[in-house]
Amino acid sequence: MRMNRPVHGGTNIAELRSLGLRTDDVLDFSASVNPLGAPRGMMQAMSRVNLAAYPDTECIALREALAARLGVSAAQILVGNGSTELIHLTARAYLDAGERAVIFTPSFGEYEAACRMQGARTLNIAASEATGFAWDIADAARQITEQSPSVAFLCNPNNPTGRYMSADDVRRVADALPDGGLLLLDEAYLPFVEAQWNSLPLLDLGNVALLRSMTKDYALTALRLGYMLAPPDVARHVRAYQYSWSVNGLAQAAGIAALADGGHARNGRNAARAAKRYLTDELDALGLRYTPSDANFVLVKVGNAGALRHTLLKRHRIGVRDCASFGLPEYIRIGMRTLNDCKRLVAALREVLENRD
Ligand SMILES: Cc1ncc(COP(=O)(O)O)c(C=O)c1O
Repeated sequence: MRMNRPVHGGTNIAELRSLGLRTDDVLDFSASVNPLGAPRGMMQAMSRVNLAAYPDTECIALREALAARLGVSAAQILVGNGSTELIHLTARAYLDAGERAVIFTPSFGEYEAACRMQGARTLNIAASEATGFAWDIADAARQITEQSPSVAFLCNPNNPTGRYMSADDVRRVADALPDGGLLLLDEAYLPFVEAQWNSLPLLDLGNVALLRSMTKDYALTALRLGYMLAPPDVARHVRAYQYSWSVNGLAQAAGIAALADGGHARNGRNAARAAKRYLTDELDALGLRYTPSDANFVLVKVGNAGALRHTLLKRHRIGVRDCASFGLPEYIRIGMRTLNDCKRLVAALREVLENRD
């Protein structure tokens, strides 16, 4: 069977080359990571890593640091080479060919890709523009009960809409799953939510795994680092599918150092909040509609998103996410950067909109 790779629609090196640009030339709003970048001290932490030694395949020190920080046990933590790896491992561990998975859409394309690779049958529970991309939870629970999926993928806050589901609604989804089914609650963007509820008690339900991404809140994006919080038997089961040493030593050292810099994620959230306030005010002034977002990105309705993205890149060296691959060809997603960067984006958007055919 031949398959296509998931489309991420962000800045792409081949495209940049065709425009005569290098990555450093572009102000990239297509990724949504801590606007302050990685914490200080990363380079020193990584310079102490012995490059000639294999990394700890169990990530013990990092899991202990995470456990201490979060108040869970190390046995409830599985570290991955980015949370993307953990999405794929979960699909491998829970989905055999022909089995059913539920995906709350529109959402991150890697869920669908992981299910496809397993030959699973996917049911999309879709939210539409008409409801501001809120799901009908009673209907979702009914469909889950009917379909009895082995896994449900739910992103909270959701990429690309920024909608943040309540604790009660998430519980209703988990409760609708059959025995042995798993809810993978992807909280990659949770650190940027201001009014967070505590999702850790969901682990007591026994059928929920939480996914976190240190490539977002600590901007360790090039290193790749994510982790799963899950009941120990779930973490052990998923871990059985991970190849040895998948999380490299530099990423493990950087993760431990990042956790020691307690204020960095909070400062990043504050910077993203200030940028979002500025940007949404300016979008209002430009007459562009956007979806209220609890995350560090906004989904903006622009008409032909592909054309706008291309023009911004070519004329202004600014990258935004074209949301066609989410099934939203009229939308772009803008990840928050510093206020100054956002000012450049607004000026570029104004110029492009004024000169649009
Ligand atoms: C919702 C969501 N989950 C997971 C990921 C993957 O993150 P990581 O860099 O940890 O693999 C992304 C990346 O864009 C994402 O949007």
